[in-house]
Amino acid sequence: MIKLESIYKSFEGRTVLDDINFSFEDGKTNLIIGQSGSGKTVLMKCIVGLLTPEKGHILYDSRDFNAMDKKEKKALRREMGMIFQSAALFDSLSVLENVMFPLDMFSNDTYRDRVKRAQFCLDRVNLTDAQNKYPGEISGGMQKRVAIARAIALQPKYLFCDEPNSGLDPKTSLVIDALIHDITTEYNMTTIINTHDMNSVMGIGDSILYIYQGHKEWEGTKNDVFTATNERLNNFIFASDLLRKVKDEGLKQR
Ligand SMILES: Nc1ncnc2c1ncn2[C@@H]1O[C@H](COP(=O)(O)OP(=O)(O)OP(=O)(O)O)[C@@H](O)[C@H]1O
Ligand SMILES: [Mg+2]
Repeated sequence: MIKLESIYKSFEGRTVLDDINFSFEDGKTNLIIGQSGSGKTVLMKCIVGLLTPEKGHILYDSRDFNAMDKKEKKALRREMGMIFQSAALFDSLSVLENVMFPLDMFSNDTYRDRVKRAQFCLDRVNLTDAQNKYPGEISGGMQKRVAIARAIALQPKYLFCDEPNSGLDPKTSLVIDALIHDITTEYNMTTIINTHDMNSVMGIGDSILYIYQGHKEWEGTKNDVFTATNERLNNFIFASDLLRKVKDEGLKQR
C-alpha cells in the first residue's frame, strides 16, 4: 500500500497539489483521473521521488519516503516499475534487450537467467515472437506491451503508469488495460495509473482518485461513478450528452 498524507506541491508560488490524502491499495488498479493540467503527472512524480513535495508524507507500506536515506531509497527504487506516456524504449536495442535492460542494471543473475526472465516477461505480454525485432519495427500497442514487460522484469511491488493508453486506438487500449489489471492481481502489486480515458475508468477503476485543480475532489470505485452526485466529477466523466443519457438510462433501470 502507498499512503499519501497531506501532500502539497507548488511551482514558483503557484499551488499545483493542495492537501492530497489517499491510500493506493495492493492488488488493485488505482486510477488518478482529472482534466489536463489538474496535477496527475506532478503527483505521480512526487510519489516516485522525481519531485519533492513541500509538505506531507508518502508511506510505502508504512515506510516514510522522506525519512529514508540514500541506500533505502535505492532499494525502494528497485521495487518500482514505471511505464511512461511514450513507451520510451531504446531504439537501438532489440525488444529482448530492452526487457533485459533493468536486469542487466540491477540483478546479479547470470546472462542465461536474465535472458530466461526477459523471455518469460515477453511471453506474459504475448510478444515471444517479436523478441528479435527493434522498436521501430513494431506497432505502438506492441511497444507499450514491451514497456510493460520491461517494467515487470524485476518483479516490482509498485507499478506506475502515466497515461499508458495515450496514442492507442480504443481496442488496443482495452488490451493494455486488461494486461495491466491482470498482472496487478497476479503479482499483488500496488498499481497507480494516470488516465483520462473513460474506458479505463469504467473497465479497471478498482479505486479512483479524482483530482480537480490540484485538490482531491472525489474518491470511489468504478461502481460508485454511476451514482456519484459530485457535479464536477459528473461533468468530467459524462462530458458528452450521449454519455449523460447512458448514465440516466442506467440509473432508471436499477
Ligand atoms: N516543472 C514544472 N514547473 C512549473 N509548473 C509545472 C511543472 N510541472 C508541471 N507544472 C504545472 O503543474 C500543473 C499540473 O501539471 P500536470 O503535468 O501534473 O498535469 P496533468 O494532470 O498530468 O495533465 P495531462 O493530463 O495533460 O497530462 C500544470 O499547470 C503544469 O503547468
Ligand atoms: Mg500528465
